[in-house]
Amino acid sequence: MDPNTKLMLYRTIHVVGIILSFVSLGALATIAARGGEKRSKLPAIGHGVGLFLVLLGGFGMLAVLQKIGMIQGWPPWLIVKLLLWIGLGGAIALFKRRPDMVKATMGGCIAFGITAVVMAVFKPF
Ligand code: HEM
Repeated sequence: MDPNTKLMLYRTIHVVGIILSFVSLGALATIAARGGEKRSKLPAIGHGVGLFLVLLGGFGMLAVLQKIGMIQGWPPWLIVKLLLWIGLGGAIALFKRRPDMVKATMGGCIAFGITAVVMAVFKPF
């Protein structure tokens, strides 16, 4: 498969993962806001699968971009994104253990997401 097609495939997987992760985070926030009673495992599964697809697409793009010389090593903007990704992974525990903080947790997730997009598009450092 030529590098450009691979890049488009990994970019699609990356963005699908972002959509699935944030829809699931929204569902987890709603469950937490309603007192945390478990209705379905689906939001937690969606959160896990979504973040996995973000990582798969992200590292896939990284490998292709390194191979064609567009990126050298691991630039700081990518390290920031990985830390944000870990934060979004940890949000599920906060929704479960601290439902009283649901607004702050969801606000933090949105801020993390926006920062990750800014890092990817502007690559400020
Ligand atoms: C935390 C959640 C994340 C969000 C919201 C996010 C968002 C984005 C967006 C919107 C793009 C641009 C896609 C496009 O140009 O069509 C992108 C590109 C990219 N992301 Fe992420 N990303 C996240 C996490 C990650 C992680 C964890 C990695 C590393 C494994 C990663 C690696 C990349 C790479 C390599 C690109 C391509 C940059 C380029 O085209 O030069 N991202 N990301």
